[in-house]
Parts: sequence; structure tokens; C-alpha cells
Amino acid sequence: MKFKLNRRTFIKRAVYALLSLEIIYVFTGLLRKKKAKKVSDGWFDAGNINFFEKGKVYPFGAAHFYLSRLEDGGLLAISIHCTHLGCAIQFNQNKDRFVCPCHASSFNKYGEVLSPPATRALDIYPITIQDDKVMVDVNSPLRRNKYENSQVTYV
Ligand code: FES
Repeated sequence: MKFKLNRRTFIKRAVYALLSLEIIYVFTGLLRKKKAKKVSDGWFDAGNINFFEKGKVYPFGAAHFYLSRLEDGGLLAISIHCTHLGCAIQFNQNKDRFVCPCHASSFNKYGEVLSPPATRALDIYPITIQDDKVMVDVNSPLRRNKYENSQVTYV
């Protein structure tokens, strides 16, 4: 089978190809801008405070933390990294606790150790509320041995 391309068809296809590349370039540029907006100067915009129900835990895996909205409305941004050897913990809704898939350490919603081999509480990140937005300083993990009420951020 012989494939023949005349000049008109060639130009048409070249124009379509260039338009497609332009659309892809603009679209990916928009995605990049949106992502950059989420983290500026280390502060991650987790969203409006009213979105987070009391007593629930919300994952922000890309930013390496879970947002724990406590029963009294307080907030903790808990690191996903297990304090045993650093594996990424997961929140088990049914058991209402964080569980490490590597060696089975578990932690409560405050990040306190419930079962070893981990021996200290999960790290947390500073939180500030700006215009009802929950902002988390993902560049400044705070190492802690145990949970204290002073670590909780209130609106
Ligand atoms: S790394 Fe989590 S229990 Fe070992």
C-alpha cells in the first residue's frame, strides 16, 4: 500500500499538530500554577476550616501529613512518617487509629503511640488559620516524645 501525502494535507496536519502542542502546553502550565498555589513559602493551604468535621482525620499524602480535627474542634497536622523507621502510616477508619504497614506500630488521632515498636509520638507541623483557611507549615516538622494539649491549634 502506497502512502501519499499532498502539500495541502501536510500543511493541515502540521497546523493541527502545532495547535495540539499549544493546547497541551497551556493546560500543563495551568496545572503547574494551581499546584504552586497550594504551597507557598512552605505553607500548605489545606482548605477552609468549615470543611473539616470534628472527630475526623483527613489525608494530605502529597504534603506528607494527616489533618486530625479533634472532637473539641482543635487541629493537629500529623506527619505520615512513622517514628520507628519512617514508613508511611495509614489511617484506619474502622479502628480509628493510624497504623504502620511495616512493623504494625499504631497511633491514636493525637499521634500518641498505642502499640510498639515505635516509642514516641508522630511528628506534627505548625498550623495557622488565615481567613478561615487552614495553613500548614510543611517545612517545619516538630519532633515530640508525647502529645501535649499545647500542640493543638484552635480557631
Ligand atoms: S517503620 Fe513503622 S513500625 Fe517500623
